Amino acid sequence: MRRYATLLGTGGYLPETILTNAQIAETVDTSDAWIVERTGIRTRRIAAPHETASSMAERAARDALQAAGLEPEAIDLIIVGTGTPDRLFPSTACLLQQRLAIRQCAAFDVQAACSGFIFALSIADQYIRAGSARCVLVVGSELNSRIIDWSDRSTCVLFGDGAGAAVLGVAEEPGLLSTHIQSDGQYHDLLYVPNPAHGNEPPFLKMEGHEVFKVAVNTLGRIVDETLAANALTQADIDWLVPHQANIRIISATAKKLGLPMERVVVTIENQGNTSAASIPLALNEAIRDGRIQRGHTVLMEAFGAGFAWGSALLRY
Ligand code: COA
Repeated sequence: MRRYATLLGTGGYLPETILTNAQIAETVDTSDAWIVERTGIRTRRIAAPHETASSMAERAARDALQAAGLEPEAIDLIIVGTGTPDRLFPSTACLLQQRLAIRQCAAFDVQAACSGFIFALSIADQYIRAGSARCVLVVGSELNSRIIDWSDRSTCVLFGDGAGAAVLGVAEEPGLLSTHIQSDGQYHDLLYVPNPAHGNEPPFLKMEGHEVFKVAVNTLGRIVDETLAANALTQADIDWLVPHQANIRIISATAKKLGLPMERVVVTIENQGNTSAASIPLALNEAIRDGRIQRGHTVLMEAFGAGFAWGSALLRY
């Protein structure tokens, strides 16, 4: 029997506090008009002081488990994509495991920045196909507001907090058709957060936004083609694009490349900003819950971020 990963349930969590562009413009030299035009972002959510990546991950994970109709004990592997872990170690996945009171399964984090969910999904897919796991909890959780320099207008307008989760199970028919991940460390200096234990740099995200933008658009265009070719599919076979939400202009360029109208693209950036590894599972969850994505639909997910690290996943839902 061939084994494939199938999506059993999704969940999401967004903190309550909403931060508007106008509020940011009170503290740095920017405007609602600039932010909306250059990024597509109007508001983003900001975590409360008591919240952490693992607490938000728990909310999203419980939501996904409920959607899947499963108890936490069913999980035999936990993978968390995060660039904003509660602690350098142990992993946020271990803290999530404790919060869910799950014993006797492996739990680890994946550090692939904004592509963390796709990388985690790809690992989960390999474990399920190999017969090494039956039920995998994959989470993207980010507390970006704590690694942002709130006096740097070129980055502080972009990011938000949140968590998204997916529960994957085993099926005889493919749900996850393929995943594709890749990295190129030569760009490591264009987008990074220093480790405060080393050197004198402030512990905030630094980005050469324009350079990142150019490489992101080209790379995502290429990976879309590679994903379709690997599955002998054409653009017309894609029902939904669920992209990482970094900039509406990057999303539009990828949709154009696919020949997809924007009605077929799940866009959450307007009210969430860039939630890094959480953006794809949050968008997937939203579109499944509101009925846009239905069983049988073919969904292309893609992400690009620091590393650079990028990837895609093609799902028959
Ligand atoms: N408000 C007003 N002006 C701003 C601003 C802000 N919040 N941020 C930057 N600017 C200014 C710059 O200072 C610059 O001014 P100058 O021309 O006088 O030097 C001007 O706007 C253009 O800056 P630039 O960085 O070239 O703008 P851009 O069109 O590239 O947009 C980003 C900036 C960050 C929105 C865009 O580059 C981007 O989205 N990058 C990719 C992000 C991404 O994909 N990250 C990877 C995943 S996390």
